Amino acid sequence: MRILVVGSGGREHALAWRLHRSDAVTSIFAAPGNSGTERLGTNLPIADTDLDGLVAAAVDRAIGLVVVGPETPLALGLSDRLAAAGIPAFGPGRAAARLESSKSFARSVQDAAGVPGPNYRVFQTVAGALNYVAHHNRPVVVKADGLAAGKGVAMCASREDAKIAIRACMEDKVFGPSGQTVVIEDWLHGPEVSVFGFTDGENLSAVAAATDYKRIGHGDTGPNTGGMGSYGPPHFWNDELAAQVRRDFMLPVIRELADRGSPYRGALYCGLMLTNAGPRVLEFNCRFGDPETQVIMPQLLSDPVEIMSSCANGSLDDAAPVRWSSRPAVGVVMVSGGYPGPYQTGHPITGLEDNDDDTIIFHAGAQRADDGSDRVLTAGGRVLACVGRGDSVAEARARAYRRAAGISFAGAYYRRDIAATPAGQLASA
Ligand code: GLY
Repeated sequence: MRILVVGSGGREHALAWRLHRSDAVTSIFAAPGNSGTERLGTNLPIADTDLDGLVAAAVDRAIGLVVVGPETPLALGLSDRLAAAGIPAFGPGRAAARLESSKSFARSVQDAAGVPGPNYRVFQTVAGALNYVAHHNRPVVVKADGLAAGKGVAMCASREDAKIAIRACMEDKVFGPSGQTVVIEDWLHGPEVSVFGFTDGENLSAVAAATDYKRIGHGDTGPNTGGMGSYGPPHFWNDELAAQVRRDFMLPVIRELADRGSPYRGALYCGLMLTNAGPRVLEFNCRFGDPETQVIMPQLLSDPVEIMSSCANGSLDDAAPVRWSSRPAVGVVMVSGGYPGPYQTGHPITGLEDNDDDTIIFHAGAQRADDGSDRVLTAGGRVLACVGRGDSVAEARARAYRRAAGISFAGAYYRRDIAATPAGQLASA
């Protein structure tokens, strides 16, 4: 089967890498892809938001399955457009993708499904939102309702912080129309975990879990980023928790969406906080996480083509059960100096060769030089992830860091404490 992976980050390289290892795959295309996906197949210069271009490319190249990595093309309706052209797509249609593209919609689905989350209120007016926080006695999280490139969540320790966040969203419109509505939630505390499963709209596979280290600094300090590393399964994860999250958190939401006539097909991402009162859902996302995908794809034992095709076709119960390895994986993200603030690109990266099954480099903001050489240059804030696998977290961690030490580019930075200190004690989304 010919596969098209949509997107250009580390998540998409990890998806392409896992698909490439399937006997069912004859060729891989990526749009637009990066220097990592290019090593596995053919990059197509089509933006992930160019729905016409993506559908035309999938038809022209007789693609048998399109795997959509990021949320934006899903929220724009790429899967619906591909289905209308007769091409199976792994990723929900526009209506079900609202689980991520509208936080207020997600909370309403969650409430109807009886899935616990933080106390929250939805506001369409600045005055209403300001009045709420003026009389609320707890720290809150102010969320832009729509997609905001991962930046629409403000952790507000004080009323003043909350007012600033509300005004930025609703008056200054820093997130455009995405911030016209805000969801204000109580700020919860506890370890965070991202849980992923495959679903065809009715059935849900066994789930996999990983953590995401969001802050730039060692010890979970400094500003939030797109993710500085990940490991899984987390030390606190166990079969009982996995069964609870699958049964009580994810399946009820899948059933609620099916009952509403918009079945959810694809990867379901349940972002949880393990509070003293029990697990609480912080968010649902309509895709795999980044950088979590870089550690969970190496753990996927089952054939990804069979699973993803059967999700797209609504026949997951006919496929072999999804199996995950419990062998730990640790991913350390290397970023450009200055990230998440301004940073330079175009620096040569060395040390990328010699992957083996226990140390894998997933490219993210990296592109091959356009001078005809094989040189790979930095092209983004998050440049790549070094993933180590082992029989213990300590062994996987040592392998990831040993690999990172062998890679260099000007200004390279990475956290030294991935999988060593807990993630998410301070942040809530
Ligand atoms: N790891 C967070 C996300 O993918 O949204």
